[in-house]
Amino acid sequence: MKSAILMAAGKGTRMQSDLPKVMHKVCQKTMVEHLIDTVKQAGAEKVVTVVGYGHEVIEKAMEGKTEFALQEPQLGTGHAVMQAKQCEHVQGETLVVNGDCPCLTADTFEELYQEVKDAKMVVLTAILDDPSAYGRIIRDENGFIQRIIEFKDCTEDEKKINEINTGIYAFDNETLFSNLKDIQNNNAQSEYYITDLVEILNKKGLKVKAVIAKDNEEVAGVNDKYELARANQEMQKRINKEWMKKGVTMINPDATYIGADVKLEAEVILYPNVYLEGNTTVQRGTTILPQSFLDNAIIGKDCVIDSSRITDSEVKDNCTVGPFAHLRMHSVVESKNRIGNFVEFKNTNFGFDSRCAHLTYIGDSDIGSKVNIGCGVVTVNYDGKNKFRTVVKDGAFIGSNVNLIAPLTVGENAVVAAGSTATEDVPDGDMAIGRCRQENKPGYGTKYKNK
Ligand code: UD1
Ligand code: CA
Repeated sequence: MKSAILMAAGKGTRMQSDLPKVMHKVCQKTMVEHLIDTVKQAGAEKVVTVVGYGHEVIEKAMEGKTEFALQEPQLGTGHAVMQAKQCEHVQGETLVVNGDCPCLTADTFEELYQEVKDAKMVVLTAILDDPSAYGRIIRDENGFIQRIIEFKDCTEDEKKINEINTGIYAFDNETLFSNLKDIQNNNAQSEYYITDLVEILNKKGLKVKAVIAKDNEEVAGVNDKYELARANQEMQKRINKEWMKKGVTMINPDATYIGADVKLEAEVILYPNVYLEGNTTVQRGTTILPQSFLDNAIIGKDCVIDSSRITDSEVKDNCTVGPFAHLRMHSVVESKNRIGNFVEFKNTNFGFDSRCAHLTYIGDSDIGSKVNIGCGVVTVNYDGKNKFRTVVKDGAFIGSNVNLIAPLTVGENAVVAAGSTATEDVPDGDMAIGRCRQENKPGYGTKYKNK
């Protein structure tokens, strides 16, 4: 069986945040979730995440996606793996992965699972111009790894080695667990280092293989906010490239922000400064113009979304939305609609082929099809304590500057005259007028102006 142990118990002091390090997001998805998804993609059937600092937060967020092992206190990476007792008697190959490498790909993990089939331990290494504080790799004359020396334990000469340990390993699971107990903590940090297994296995005559990473950006660890931003950039580039290869047009991919779980179709056009987050889906032929923010939005085919904010809501085919519309809280706009500028929908169903073109708030409403909502219409859905629904049936016409005081139903083909404040239901086919009657005072206008 293929397993994976993700080490995520550290606080990540250099992030200068109360959030556990692995809960920081890269392309709108936490680092730990990226890793869980990627190891599963590479074939891991059993995933154990070792948690410690802030474990409640991680456990809650990742519930059902991974098993957990608690490491308290955190005495090093070797000690972290010892806590993954669920894996102790499993047969097969096991990945051990630093929790702070969000950009790793399934291809790389697959390669490690493959390479460990004829070795007991494989280490993913990288060759860096600036190896900074990473652990250094010492190879023997045959190219196998002899030792990994932590930066803090390095001599000046060893610090010059530029092949480093990425913190990603594959093991034969039995070998891993039968040797963990031999790890000691006699080093600069008095920690149990997983890296000590290299020497322990070598002493038993077992060779440790190195696999050099093909892409250094992929294996880069995240330790502070600068590295978090870099990982984000790297991941965004990758996500955008993938969508462009699948037929999405981006005017400027460097200014297009697409979350890891977003789904797009060919012939979608994205203008700069578009943010697509959460489980957003955009279907074929839709154009999203600049300054739009979509989070958990489902957008149908052949729509145009202009400078708008759409959250937890759906817009069906052939609609235009915006500029400056705001659709939120489970609103559904049926197809062939026009939602114009400065229109807000909250928890509203808006029927097929209707219009709501300007300056309007529709909240907690069910609007039928072929309805016209004039300019400046407000559903008065809240009395300070409770929210009430407004229903507007098919073919109704709501004039400009109308207040619909909920609960209220406007019947089929009914009309509410402009400027009305409607407080009572309007029967099918009727017209409601609720406004002061106008009075004209002859000559008063001129008089007033000449005053
Ligand atoms: C580790 C490696 C180092 C490698 C580097 C790559 C060891 C001893 N060193 O060092 O060779 O170059 O990663 O980034 O392994 N963690 C736990 N429990 C602990 C300690 C750490 O779960 O007790 C987790 C952390 O949350 C983190 C990961 O292990 O996700 C790595 O820990 P970190 O302290 O960053 O290790 P490094 O010092 O960077
Ligand atoms: Ca690290």
